[in-house]
Amino acid sequence: MASHFVLSTGAKIPSVGLGTWQAAPGVVGDAVLTAVKAGYRHIDCASMYQNEKEIGDALHKLFDDGVVKREDLFITSKLWCSDHAPEDVPQALDKTLGDLRLDYVDLYLIHWPFRIKKDSNFSPENFVDPDIPATWDAMEKLYDSGKARAIGVSNFSSKKLEDLLSIARVPPAVNQVECHPVWRQEKLHALCQSKGVHLTAYSPLGSPGSTFMKNNDILERSVVVSAAEKLGKTPAQVVLRWGIQSGHSVLPKSTNEERIKQNLDLFNWSIPDDLFGEFSKIEQARLLRADFAVGPQSVYKTLEDFWDGEI
Ligand code: A2P
Repeated sequence: MASHFVLSTGAKIPSVGLGTWQAAPGVVGDAVLTAVKAGYRHIDCASMYQNEKEIGDALHKLFDDGVVKREDLFITSKLWCSDHAPEDVPQALDKTLGDLRLDYVDLYLIHWPFRIKKDSNFSPENFVDPDIPATWDAMEKLYDSGKARAIGVSNFSSKKLEDLLSIARVPPAVNQVECHPVWRQEKLHALCQSKGVHLTAYSPLGSPGSTFMKNNDILERSVVVSAAEKLGKTPAQVVLRWGIQSGHSVLPKSTNEERIKQNLDLFNWSIPDDLFGEFSKIEQARLLRADFAVGPQSVYKTLEDFWDGEI
């Protein structure tokens, strides 16, 4: 198992990246320093996480101290829902690049197939019908400009991904979605593989401790605990290794040095076929359901609509 996957652009995306959602300001910079010193080369960011400035400072410290060069890193960021208007897309990336103090990102994603008015929040009166083809056209121009070396999407169902693939001039390189043993995304995974779209997993540990999600006890499931015991690894390592062995990259979030290191130690061992097969018996449940995106004033009336039945 290599330490990276290859995108349709030819670029290498490291198999493990540091997730930074819900990594508090004041803590996330240290997590980035620790992670890169421990060997991480992929940092997953988003303007919505409101910590890109601090991440930018940490990256520059690493460059100044000679720990890594810019070209050694793979930096992802995401276009927020209030910036879908085509004229806002380049400004949004410029803001992210300014905060990160970078000339380009390695990957820029549409964060959600869901749109709100500029500078607004998720109140129903702010909902605007998305126009993904128009937003994607603006994303393609960022790709042309070189400021985004690859472009992709996040939280796209199989149907939404197929719709986009049918109109895209530059096909999305990545779909970043929730994926872990309790939400394996088998249909989407197969589609991505057949179309050359790389799948990246957010919440690869099932976000233990998050108040946003129910059923987030993956690290305590018997299949996981028993595999961990047999392999002499932690439940988190087994779950992350399951991810990369399934063919997708993973973005575990941690701000703890020991766990940051542990989450990268996935490459000189593997889950044997018999234990791997046990994971397919785990009952499925989407943890991050996106209730905020549905309702009478949204183009998506139900969660079924939003996820096109994949719920
Ligand atoms: P912490 O930051 O204190 O390490 P996900 O990436 O699925 O969203 O999960 C993130 C959550 O999992 C965080 O609460 C994080 O806490 C915790 N976590 C990260 N790595 C591990 C690990 N190796 N073992 C147990 N919990 C972990």
